[in-house]
Amino acid sequence: MSLELKRIHHVEFLVGNAKQAAYFYRKAFGFDQVAYRGPETGYRKRASYVLRQGDIWLVFTTPLHHDDSLNIWLTLHGDGVRDIAFEVRDAAAIHDEAVARGATSDRPPREFSDDQGTVKMAKIQTYGEVVHTFVERGGYRGFLPGFRIQEIKGEGVGLSCIDHVVGNVEDNRMDAWVRWYDEVLGMDRFVSYDDKDISTEFTALRSTVVATDDRRIKFPINEPAAGRRKSQIQEYIDHNVTAGVQHLALRTDDILGSIAALRRNGVEFLQVPAGYYDHVWQTIGEIAEDHERVRELGILVDRDETGYLLQLFTRPLQDRPTFFVEIIQRAGSESFGKGNFKALFVTIEQEQALRGNL
Ligand code: FE2
Repeated sequence: MSLELKRIHHVEFLVGNAKQAAYFYRKAFGFDQVAYRGPETGYRKRASYVLRQGDIWLVFTTPLHHDDSLNIWLTLHGDGVRDIAFEVRDAAAIHDEAVARGATSDRPPREFSDDQGTVKMAKIQTYGEVVHTFVERGGYRGFLPGFRIQEIKGEGVGLSCIDHVVGNVEDNRMDAWVRWYDEVLGMDRFVSYDDKDISTEFTALRSTVVATDDRRIKFPINEPAAGRRKSQIQEYIDHNVTAGVQHLALRTDDILGSIAALRRNGVEFLQVPAGYYDHVWQTIGEIAEDHERVRELGILVDRDETGYLLQLFTRPLQDRPTFFVEIIQRAGSESFGKGNFKALFVTIEQEQALRGNL
């Protein structure tokens, strides 16, 4: 039986200062602030801000008291993703089935109610200290029980949904986690990249993508590979202390407009290596977008058998070199920009060297 994961309901970040993190993601990435839970709504332990753009729902949470166990999580990992929550039809059934298949329960199924209705939720643990919450909404009308609806409009930049969520796991743990997603959540192996695909003269990594049958949820899982210098995945693990979420890829239908707006808002992106556009058009062939605009905005392009894609990666979004965001537009391609890996990793190595982590 394949467990039915309908969609990514939300991604929750644990951060040191949710008020400021929410402001940053709202102003820089153009999210609306749509809900809040905290002392003012009767929840004294933690404050959470919910941001939405298209079908992307992000929650930023901070513990308010020194004795909250989430502080240990924050001390270890710094600001980062703690929960990738799925909307499901039956939270209890899926939780119990996942546990029967070998998952560790983080919280058994429980109902939560307020005047907007009732939601059933349960949690299991995945890699690192990341969890998956199963959210059974029934006909619930708000975000989740306990949250007060807000309407603070952001200036959207055209982001529509979460294209994929990438996890970095420890050396030699990728295959085990790919098996876990297959056996526990029924997500099949979609594509693999080995260290010959993803390496430079100095550093390397391996990656395997698991996906739901309908391919609406895609999780690439990376592990470091041996190279002459330290893999960027190992740099992540060293700073996150454990496995964790490396990046969210957010989809747009107009990457030229999205990147122009994000750059105006001050979002910093990895710089495309010099000479990239001297060669790229010969391998990519014809695309609908204006070559000159693509080059001006520093956007990467790749093509596979089914089409092409345009993508760009932010620099880390907090001081630890851990989490970042990818902006992606797909034009037929279902892959992940393999042709850009090498060019991009030269840039990442330069940044690693500046941080003293190469
Ligand atoms: Fe990606």
